[in-house]
Amino acid sequence: MSQDAFRLISPNGTELELPVRTGTIGPEVIDVAKLYKEQGVFTYDPGFVSTGSCESDITYIDGEQGVLMYRGYPVEQLAAKSSFIEVSYLLLHGNLPTTSELEKFEGTIRRHTMLNEGMLNFFKGFRYDAHPMAMLSAVVGSMSAYYHSEMDASNPDHRDIFAHRILAKLPTIAAAAYKLNTGQPFIYPRNDLNYCQNFLHMLFAVPAEPYEIDEVAAEALDLLFILHADHEQNCSTSTVRMAGSSGANPYSAIAAGISALWGPAHGGANEAVLKMLEEIGDVSQIKKYVDKAKDKSDSFRLMGFGHRVYKNFDPRATIIRDMCHKILQRLDRKDTPLFDLAQELEQVALKDDYFIEKNLYPNVDFYSGIIYRALGIPTSMFTVMFALGRSVGWASHWREMISDPAGKIARPRQLYTGPAQRDYTPIEKR
Ligand code: SDX
Repeated sequence: MSQDAFRLISPNGTELELPVRTGTIGPEVIDVAKLYKEQGVFTYDPGFVSTGSCESDITYIDGEQGVLMYRGYPVEQLAAKSSFIEVSYLLLHGNLPTTSELEKFEGTIRRHTMLNEGMLNFFKGFRYDAHPMAMLSAVVGSMSAYYHSEMDASNPDHRDIFAHRILAKLPTIAAAAYKLNTGQPFIYPRNDLNYCQNFLHMLFAVPAEPYEIDEVAAEALDLLFILHADHEQNCSTSTVRMAGSSGANPYSAIAAGISALWGPAHGGANEAVLKMLEEIGDVSQIKKYVDKAKDKSDSFRLMGFGHRVYKNFDPRATIIRDMCHKILQRLDRKDTPLFDLAQELEQVALKDDYFIEKNLYPNVDFYSGIIYRALGIPTSMFTVMFALGRSVGWASHWREMISDPAGKIARPRQLYTGPAQRDYTPIEKR
């Protein structure tokens, strides 16, 4: 077999060579684009377990080795040495910024954090207990109603302006949603604060008294945003790419990604983990719930465990677990039963044959909610926190997709299993 092709023998005996393409690192791909035209058959891969949807330079994951790299930089190094704003520049532009590039980029983000005043009216229409993710996707979708004069995807400046607006305004929208839920007045952003300080200020400040930024919390958020920033072709990022591939405006594509992230199998898992830990309640109940997770007749799954790609430790979970421990200590939190329960649950699951055999390890969502809770962020806001970090990944992938000269509208095919052709039956004869 030639090194650069896969040779197939079709059911009718014809031979077909399919080109193999090699990336920088990671599995090769078989290019099946011509398969239907030449053989009249589709490939079939529900959930895209073995299917690459695109070529990308942004993020690389090795699920067996537990590797995650943004533009070639290991996430462990970025978590230890970088900042979310610097990582955002890296993901958007492909390289780490110089000092002047970073200052310019950070200054631009700081000066785009305000919302059009009219957008604040949306929050007057939501019920006081509206889920923040519902508000986030709705208000982000409305951005295309405010910025339609700068949505020409072929214009590089417009692509930059879109990315800056998404990165800068999501925290303001997220904080506004939280303030609606609490019944407190909206707090305007401040340009004298950095990204995470500003978000904490918009979340927790009240007009009645001065608010002192908790630097421990700001540092923890910055690290969590770095770890959530991107993850190659995950469900929500693929949604952004698919929506954007039709030429839909980028704000609507991001709103679609936010909706996809909300699912408990995806970004909604961090909220589901806390609810699960509270339902388990005590270490004495762990075995009962681990058994439920193993019971095929029971739909219960151990939230925060398992991953489509990682069949080893999710490197983000390891970093978050260590940080969780440090945060709880530095916040002098005595009431750490949830963290203690989570660690015990992890130990029990990792020793269980079912979880070992199926390579089910804690993922990024397993510990993150415990930190958010320790910082005073309510469970309903956990997936919003995930969206804030992932926003730059979505924007980076949209830009990569829309800049691809060979780009096409995403339009999968299917295996049809419905009825063969039949004729209309008048109602009196049915
Ligand atoms: C994220 O894609 C990404 O990169 C996502 C993400 C990102 O950064 O964007 O990393 C973020 O979404 C993390 C995942 C958060 N979700 C959860 O924690 C929810 C619980 N986990 C599962 O629902 C599940 O593990 C998935 C959805 C994460 C992965 O599902 P897959 O790859 O489709 O695997 P599967 O459902 O086919 O499971 C394989 C087997 C099954 O058993 P069998 O049918 O082979 O007998 O493992 C079992 C599953 O029943 N299994 C679990 C389990 N997860 C999988 N059993 C119990 N508890 C679990 N959590």
